[in-house]
Amino acid sequence: MANQLYSPNETRYDGTMKYRRCGRSGVLLPAISLGLWHNFGDVDPLQRSFDIVHHAFDNGITHFDLANNYGPSAGSAEETFGKIITKSLRPYRDELFVSTKAGYDMWAGPYGDWGSRKYLMASLDQSLRRMNLEYVDLFYSHRFDPNTPLEETMQALVDIVRQGKALYVGISNYPTEAAAFAYQYLKERDVPCLIYQGKYSLLVRDPEEKGILQQAKEQGSGFIAFSPLAQGLLTDRYLNGIPADSRMARDGFLKKEVLSNEMLAKIVALNNVAANRGQSLAEMALAWLLKDELVTSVLIGASSVAQLDKNLKAVRNTTFDAEELMQIEEILK
Ligand SMILES: NC(=O)c1ccc[n+]([C@@H]2O[C@H](COP(=O)([O-])OP(=O)(O)OC[C@H]3O[C@@H](n4cnc5c(N)ncnc54)[C@H](OP(=O)(O)O)[C@@H]3O)[C@@H](O)[C@H]2O)c1
Repeated sequence: MANQLYSPNETRYDGTMKYRRCGRSGVLLPAISLGLWHNFGDVDPLQRSFDIVHHAFDNGITHFDLANNYGPSAGSAEETFGKIITKSLRPYRDELFVSTKAGYDMWAGPYGDWGSRKYLMASLDQSLRRMNLEYVDLFYSHRFDPNTPLEETMQALVDIVRQGKALYVGISNYPTEAAAFAYQYLKERDVPCLIYQGKYSLLVRDPEEKGILQQAKEQGSGFIAFSPLAQGLLTDRYLNGIPADSRMARDGFLKKEVLSNEMLAKIVALNNVAANRGQSLAEMALAWLLKDELVTSVLIGASSVAQLDKNLKAVRNTTFDAEELMQIEEILK
């Protein structure tokens, strides 16, 4: 139960979970991190949220990723996480690496969106209150704001670190040119950008194709891949139709139109490659990202302990032979 005393698995650091250095920093992140974008809002069962987070921590996942607006309702994922902190994880705070972000629409009026100092500062204060934390380990500018001087957004990040409200800062969804400015600005103020968070999966190749991965490496920044399972497409979830309890059935961020016959054929073919490797499609999709040392961590979502458990297996085999890589590229052409 949510209010029973939690005691974490003593084998959580037994070597099964791998930790990777985040760019040129002192921080190690688990190869698999857990994101609370979906499934942890006030519309979701609280006990399940506790169970998933506990299971993650029990298995060496130390990094939990949030944002001000995760829910629904907006803010409620941070509240859920705050309940988990208060009821069970507080004694383990120093074993946790918690991130949050601001950049998308959060509250009404001119100060609850984009990249102003006003918004970022106020939003982080709200996030800390919701999560019952004194500081976050990592605070992100969630997206590039073309209408705010980037100096203002970056200086807000610098000052947030100086205030002790975040230990590190990162950027997410930044185009490479803006990212180049951000890396430089932060470096010059001795608050180097710890990490770039970008959408990356077998189906979304921008970080490779647009040079984002390479740029992060050159700047000494880590890279964390969000939606590495393409929101569930790269699993067995949709092989036999659209289950009623799936993200696609809710028709929000994952539209039914995505599941064209062509897409389904690709998923089926990828599933076969995975089976030949002795993996599930989800495991292979995560392993494929983790084969690249430029990817510090893959940031998954899960709507059940069982899903999370399956995905954890991905770390067992993250090497691919040339033949497998070729087969995969052929399928995705
Ligand atoms: N920076 C940004 O702008 C940004 C944007 C998006 C996400 N993110 C971060 O990335 C995190 C992950 O994003 P995501 O949730 O889209 O990641 P994802 O791992 O690609 O998708 C997760 C979803 O896939 C399904 N799934 C996961 N494992 C499965 C399995 N083994 N078998 C079958 N289905 C499985 C579940 O959907 P069902 O609900 O169908 O079960 C689950 O909620 C977020 O929580 C957030 O922290 C950041």
